[in-house]
Amino acid sequence: MGEIIVGLDIGTTKVVALVCNVEDGNIEIIGMGKAPSRGLEKGVVVDIGETTASIKRAIEEAENMADVEIEHVFAGIAGRHISSVNNSGTVSISRDSRIIALEDVQRVIDNAQAVQISPDSQLIHVIPRQYIVDGQEGITDPVGMTGTRLEVDVHIVTGSITAVHNIIRCVNNVGIEVDQIVLQPLASSYAVLNEAEKELGVALMDIGGGTTDIAIFRDGDIWFSKILPIAGEHITNDIAVGLKVSYEEADRIKIQEGLPRLTDESAEEERIEITTLAEEKKLISKRKLAKIIEPRLEELFDLAMGEIEDVGYRDLIPAGIVLTGGTSLLKGLPEFVSERYDIAVRRGRNPTGIHGLRDIVESPIYSTVIGLVKYSVVSKEYIHRFGNQRGVRQWGGARLQGDGWKGLFGRLMRWLNRFLRG
Ligand SMILES: Nc1ncnc2c1ncn2[C@@H]1O[C@H](COP(=O)(O)OP(=O)(O)OP(=O)(O)O)[C@@H](O)[C@H]1O
Ligand SMILES: [Mg+2]
Repeated sequence: MGEIIVGLDIGTTKVVALVCNVEDGNIEIIGMGKAPSRGLEKGVVVDIGETTASIKRAIEEAENMADVEIEHVFAGIAGRHISSVNNSGTVSISRDSRIIALEDVQRVIDNAQAVQISPDSQLIHVIPRQYIVDGQEGITDPVGMTGTRLEVDVHIVTGSITAVHNIIRCVNNVGIEVDQIVLQPLASSYAVLNEAEKELGVALMDIGGGTTDIAIFRDGDIWFSKILPIAGEHITNDIAVGLKVSYEEADRIKIQEGLPRLTDESAEEERIEITTLAEEKKLISKRKLAKIIEPRLEELFDLAMGEIEDVGYRDLIPAGIVLTGGTSLLKGLPEFVSERYDIAVRRGRNPTGIHGLRDIVESPIYSTVIGLVKYSVVSKEYIHRFGNQRGVRQWGGARLQGDGWKGLFGRLMRWLNRFLRG
């Protein structure tokens, strides 16, 4: 048995806990638990009790399947409160030897992360993209090099303190600690992007139920991230309202029919059977459905592409767009996006280096949770390389301990909680 690593994706439609056994870099899924999520809106916890209950169900199911007791998780975060910015820092190396020490790396990171953030926000990630030693760029680990001037370029992600704390609180409520909070699209990128794409320049879009998460990678690293509050649930809602059917029926129609195109002439004649709110069967034209779905997707992607354009990356992503998340399964979506914006689009799935439970590994619905586990492995390697936890904070951002769960009191509470859970 290797090390047990657990990812916890608290999404708008579902909560998933994935238990993996990691040995010699090999990740094997040994347990999975999933529960419908009822306490989130647009990626943000709005009901602590409901969210706690969903997490509890997912965790218990995963624990039973893996036959382990989960104590720590890497948990994802999203929501429109997230913002990101690029910054750089500089320090001089004044000691006689001019050999760069770990301490200098920490100083330069501290310098780079000194950005203005609003009083109700906190740092989530400070990700070093590259170090520069006396003007020489592209250095990933400057410790041990000789120089007088050390610079770093970082990508900084911040989020609302309340949103972060609510996630931690809900996880703590089930007697589990949060090792790290990870930006969801950053996690997903570990599951679905390959190195070549990240080097060349690529935009990842994780379209879930409540949010569309965008992350842009270039030269192997993250350059931009943004969370938009529109996704699959909005399409379902539009269908429910437009066709006067229940939410469940609307979701079924969406999943079955995908994205009929307004340009498709035959859509006028083709009929779809739907069940109305009055439980009556009715036939509607595909075109009617297209008129509902297409404008919503146009709105979503115009917004997403607008964000990418605004930051000047439209021509800097030759590897195109990689779609993931449940809504990426929408039939015809890659073709629609590719046509409308004249860009290469693929669905991101089939992550490498992870084994077991094929259905999970291959579905874009689980990209975030798989990515959380992969991210955690990389983050732990980073601690190993830099030898302390401060390194992790620098690399991955917030290393958060659930308040009240540390020490004897925490253990007692955990025990009590488990006892009550039965
Ligand atoms: N085959 C399919 N075709 C189209 N849409 C689908 C399909 N399967 C699932 N979906 C949609 O995917 C959405 C859920 O995706 P996902 O599980 O990635 O969301 P989530 O992680 O819970 O939410 P978020 O990440 O936005 O907080 C739902 O709106 C669902 O209708
Ligand atoms: Mg999601």
